Amino acid sequence: MNAFLDWIEKRIPMMRVANMHAIQYPAPKNMNFWYVFGFLATIVLVNQIVTGIWLTMSYTPSAEQAFASVEYIMRDVEYGWLLRYMHSTGASAFFIVVYMHMFRGMIYGSYQKPRELLWLFGMFIYLALMAEAFMGYVLPWGQMSYWGAQVIVSLFGAIPVIGEDLVVWIQGDYVISGATLNRFFALHVIALPLVIVILVFLHIVALHEVGSNNPDGVEVKRPKGSLSEEEKTKFKMHEYYTNKYDIVDDVVPFFPHIVLKDLVAFTIFLFGFCYVLFFAPEMGGKFLEHPNFEIANPLKTPEHIFPVWYFTPFYAILKAVPEKLFGVIAMFAAIIALALLPWIDRGKVRSWRYRAGIHKWNLIVFAIVFIFLGYLGGTPQENWKIVASQIATLMYFGFFGLLWMYSKNENTKPVPERITK
Ligand code: HEM
Repeated sequence: MNAFLDWIEKRIPMMRVANMHAIQYPAPKNMNFWYVFGFLATIVLVNQIVTGIWLTMSYTPSAEQAFASVEYIMRDVEYGWLLRYMHSTGASAFFIVVYMHMFRGMIYGSYQKPRELLWLFGMFIYLALMAEAFMGYVLPWGQMSYWGAQVIVSLFGAIPVIGEDLVVWIQGDYVISGATLNRFFALHVIALPLVIVILVFLHIVALHEVGSNNPDGVEVKRPKGSLSEEEKTKFKMHEYYTNKYDIVDDVVPFFPHIVLKDLVAFTIFLFGFCYVLFFAPEMGGKFLEHPNFEIANPLKTPEHIFPVWYFTPFYAILKAVPEKLFGVIAMFAAIIALALLPWIDRGKVRSWRYRAGIHKWNLIVFAIVFIFLGYLGGTPQENWKIVASQIATLMYFGFFGLLWMYSKNENTKPVPERITK
C-alpha cells in the first residue's frame, strides 16, 4: 500500500498538497466561533451543487413546463421534496453563513494588508452568488420568479443610451419569456457554479499564501531575529514546514484542532438546517415566497413584489432614491463600498479588540442598519418607511465615510506582541 501511495506521490503531490492546505495547515490557535463560517460556506456550496445536479435530472427548463416539473419533483419524484427543500433552504443558509463570514472579516480587519486580494476574491464570490441565487429563483417560473426577474432586469433599462438594448440582450427577447428562462437555466446550472468554484479555489489559495488572520489581528509569523529584512519579505507560509521559523507556539495543525471545532459548528448548523428543512421550509414566506406557488402570469401583477430576504437591504437602498438611475447607482455603490474596504480603512490595527471605541460602535451600528434595511426592503411600502430607508441608506454609507475619517489617526489600544490565547 505504502509503495503504491509513494508511486502516486512521486507523480502527483496529493499528500503534500493535503498536508500543506489541510492536515498540517498552521492555523492560529485562537481562532474562535467567527472562524467556522468559511467551512460552513464550503459545506453549503457542496450541498447546493449535489442537490442541484439531482434537481436538474427532473426539472424541465421551458416556460410551458417549468412550473409543472417543479410540482412533479415535489409530489412524484422519490424524495424530490427533500432535494428541493435542501436546495432552497441551502440558498438562504448560504447567505446567512456568508454574511457572518464577511462580518467576521470586518470586525477582525481580515481585509487589511496583506489580505486585500483575498477580500476581493470574496467580494467576487458574493457577486456571483447573488447572480446565481437570482437566476435560480426564476427557474420555478412562479409569480415571484417572473415579476422579480421583471423588476431586476428592468433596472438595467435605467442606464442611459444603451439601457433598453441591454435589457433585450439580457432577456434574449423583447419581454421576459421562455428564452430568458433557458439562458438563466444555462447560467444557473453550469456557468455561474463553475465561476463560484474557481473563485473559492482562488480564495483559499490567496488565504494560504498569506496565512489566516485571527481575533487578535496580529500576524502569527515570527521569523527568527537572525533573518535579514529581505528574507522576511520573502517569507512564505509553506516554509513553515522547513522549521525555519519560530511560529510553532502561535499555531496548531488544522487537523485535528480546527477540524474538531468545525465539526462542532457543523453539528449545530445541521440542527438549525434540519429544523427549517422539515418544519418550516418556506420560513413563513421568507425562504420561499407564497406568490411563487402560483404559476407565472404576465397579465397579473402580484400585490407586493419583494426579492428574497438576502437581497432586501440593497433593494431598500434602491427604493430609497427617488430617481431610478440614481437608485441603481446607489445600490451598486453599496456593494462596491464593501469591496473597497481595504482602502477605505486606513487604520494600522486590525482587530476591533484593539481599535478605538468609535470603531466598535461604527461596526455595530452598521450591522443594525443593514438588518433594518433588510426589514424595510422586505415588507410592504408605507410612508414612514420611505424616510426611514433614506436615513438608513445615509447611515449605511456613513459607516464608510466615518471609517475613512477616523482610521487615519485613530486612538488605538496597545496591540499585543503575539496572539493572546
Ligand atoms: C462561497 C463562499 C465562500 C466560501 C466557501 C469561503 C471559504 C472560506 C474559507 C474556508 C476560509 C478559511 C476559514 C475561515 O476563515 O472561515 C475563508 C476565509 C476568508 N474569507 Fe471566505 N469564503 C466565501 C466567501 C467570502 C466572502 C463573500 C468574503 C468577503 C467579501 C470572504 C472573505 C474571507 C476572508 C477575509 C477570509 C480570511 C479571514 C481571516 O483569516 O481572518 N469570503 N473563506
